[in-house]
Amino acid sequence: MKYEQAKKLVKKNLSEKRYTHTKNVKKMAVKLAKRWGADPEKAALAAILHDAAKELPKDRQLQIFAENAIIAENAPMRPTSVWHGIAAAILCETEWGVHDPEVLSAIRCHTTGKPGMSLLDKIIYMADMTSAERDYPGVEALREEEFEDLDMALLHALKRTVDFVKEKGGRLDDQSVAAYEDLCAQLGARAQQ
Ligand SMILES: [Fe+2]
Ligand SMILES: [Fe+2]
Repeated sequence: MKYEQAKKLVKKNLSEKRYTHTKNVKKMAVKLAKRWGADPEKAALAAILHDAAKELPKDRQLQIFAENAIIAENAPMRPTSVWHGIAAAILCETEWGVHDPEVLSAIRCHTTGKPGMSLLDKIIYMADMTSAERDYPGVEALREEEFEDLDMALLHALKRTVDFVKEKGGRLDDQSVAAYEDLCAQLGARAQQ
């Protein structure tokens, strides 16, 4: 599936609000891709599809995991908030003809990050955190930082997510913590700044 088809599919499947968010994520992802030398077409495709499964009922998502148990890995055991990225990546591969592993990975890990994130993974994660309609304390600083130093912006964004879930008393996904710790280790002394 190419970008234009994907756009039609999500327009049909998402509420107006989430479709607007999706288009904003796409704009930000393309800007970041151009800034950091990633493929803007891959960034656009991953961004337009990242929340494609977000409005599917949870039991439908569980069914997708059950029917694709090998690709789904341990998805049913993870917090429900991260299911939609995995479900979207599975639907891309099994029904929508999107087979690019970089695009699939970026969609799959967009809510949590993961250890060893690729450039495209980082771009989609950050574009989702900083899309134009996002409005939370610190979002402006992240929008500046992601164009100056993508890894440091990612570190701060991951930390924000981990702290936010802890504060709310929600269930933290192991991958969010693993992504943060992996990036801290990679950045070494810079992570302490
Ligand atoms: Fe999402
Ligand atoms: Fe999103």
